[in-house]
Amino acid sequence: MTPATPESAGPLPLNRVYRRDCLRAMSLLPDASFDLAIADPPYNLSKGNNWKWDNSADLPGFGGNWNKVMASWDRQPLSVYLDFTIGWIRQLKRVVRPTGSLWIHGTYHNIGIINFALQLLEVEIINEVVWFKRNSFPNLSGRRLTASHETILWAHTGGRKRQYFFDYERARALSAPEDQLKQGGKQLRTVWDIPNNKSREELRDGKHPTQKPLRLLRRMIDISARPGTRCLVPFAGSGSECVACAGAGIAFLGFETDPGYFQVCRKRLAAAGHPFEDG
Ligand SMILES: C[S@@+](CC[C@H](N)C(=O)[O-])C[C@H]1O[C@@H](n2cnc3c(N)ncnc32)[C@H](O)[C@@H]1O
Repeated sequence: MTPATPESAGPLPLNRVYRRDCLRAMSLLPDASFDLAIADPPYNLSKGNNWKWDNSADLPGFGGNWNKVMASWDRQPLSVYLDFTIGWIRQLKRVVRPTGSLWIHGTYHNIGIINFALQLLEVEIINEVVWFKRNSFPNLSGRRLTASHETILWAHTGGRKRQYFFDYERARALSAPEDQLKQGGKQLRTVWDIPNNKSREELRDGKHPTQKPLRLLRRMIDISARPGTRCLVPFAGSGSECVACAGAGIAFLGFETDPGYFQVCRKRLAAAGHPFEDG
């Protein structure tokens, strides 16, 4: 396997997104060639072929009034989804150094499966973070609580030695005017009060239905990356995680299968100073 260099990971130059299936592409990456991964996998909650917003769909086992997309990348039988999840987590475990860590987004639709897969692969969960979205869309049916959080698992690949990097002092010093649960000088808790609003700039080059706000991603990077960190983004979507890495001055590598979202990534990364040709 081609060794990692400062500018590439195996055959793939860094600081770009590739229009590739992440499972295949990650198999090309050398062992222990990244320090961080931020994964926002498909939530597996679509129910049709034609893409559209749907806040009212009824899925067996889950409530309505959730932002669903109708896309094939987000609709797999449970056993297939479990195999897929185990597949990409196994690759992250191999590729991310024991001193590094993984951040994985999810909702109640898929986070149990991800948690199970992490335990199965002996990837230790450091914390479960609740991302409180105080500006979430109200529940229109009045038949259930307003869904106003997502779950984020922070995990590491270092086994019992727990060598993962955590910038404790930076986390403690953090304060954000919009986060009513965090004051500078106090320990960072596991509930993050970060509105889901995006700036005009974040939406200028196109949108993604599950697009993450940059300020949420910046917090992950702030507390778990250091100079020289290389971050892997298996499910790039509109490129938010990669743009956040570029803004923080850390190297990244992303994969995205959907041609439309891939184009959004290209535009956003070009605006962030990382133009690239299709890989
Ligand atoms: C939850 S979205 C990520 C959104 C992203 N966090 C953002 O802010 O835009 C998941 C993305 O993974 C992509 N995807 C699904 N399966 C994939 C695969 N096997 N390899 C690479 N990308 C994949 C989908 O096209 C979708 O855009």
